[in-house]
Amino acid sequence: MPKRKLLLDVGCGDAKSCIKFAKEGYAVIGVEKNSAVFEKAKINVNASEEKKHIKLYNRGIREMKLNQKFDGILCSFVLMFMPKEDCLALLEKFYAKLNPKGELLVKMLMLDDPMAINSKQNENVFFPSYAELREIKEQYKGTLKFKLLRDNAHNNLDFPHIHSVGILKIIK
Ligand SMILES: C[S@@+](CC[C@H](N)C(=O)[O-])C[C@H]1O[C@@H](n2cnc3c(N)ncnc32)[C@H](O)[C@@H]1O
Repeated sequence: MPKRKLLLDVGCGDAKSCIKFAKEGYAVIGVEKNSAVFEKAKINVNASEEKKHIKLYNRGIREMKLNQKFDGILCSFVLMFMPKEDCLALLEKFYAKLNPKGELLVKMLMLDDPMAINSKQNENVFFPSYAELREIKEQYKGTLKFKLLRDNAHNNLDFPHIHSVGILKIIK
């Protein structure tokens, strides 16, 4: 059996994406800071046929030491829940932890997203402007797409509502 490629899913939430990537043939490490969400992730993974290919950690990613290198790192709607400097520092750390040709995929809610507009903008969140995300893209010679996504999942906003999303892909 060929060795599985290794994927880090940062802020993996309920681990649905961990299971999806394990089905696609990855060995997955999921990191989730919130203990209640982590418990849900554990239940989902334990109920899945992919269980043996997924390892979950109940940790904050900023505190976590990464001892391995990865073929893929996924940060899906997580880096905006921290100050900009921490987000930039993590991107640097993740880039350093990619194997050659490894891919870093970052999805962020943009500054014009309803959640950003409704949230208290403070130094603990980073909803990037288009210019800020373009700057990061240039730094890592990545590719960047902006998308509007329809979302019915949150009940704290009028819905259906549209999210404004930046998708940054960096290949080592
Ligand atoms: C909006 S959810 C996104 C979940 C999933 N990645 C997705 O795209 O559906 C953000 C998740 O990141 C987790 N999170 C936030 N900050 C984190 C950190 N510093 N380290 C690890 N997980 C974090 C939250 O607890 C939450 O479950």
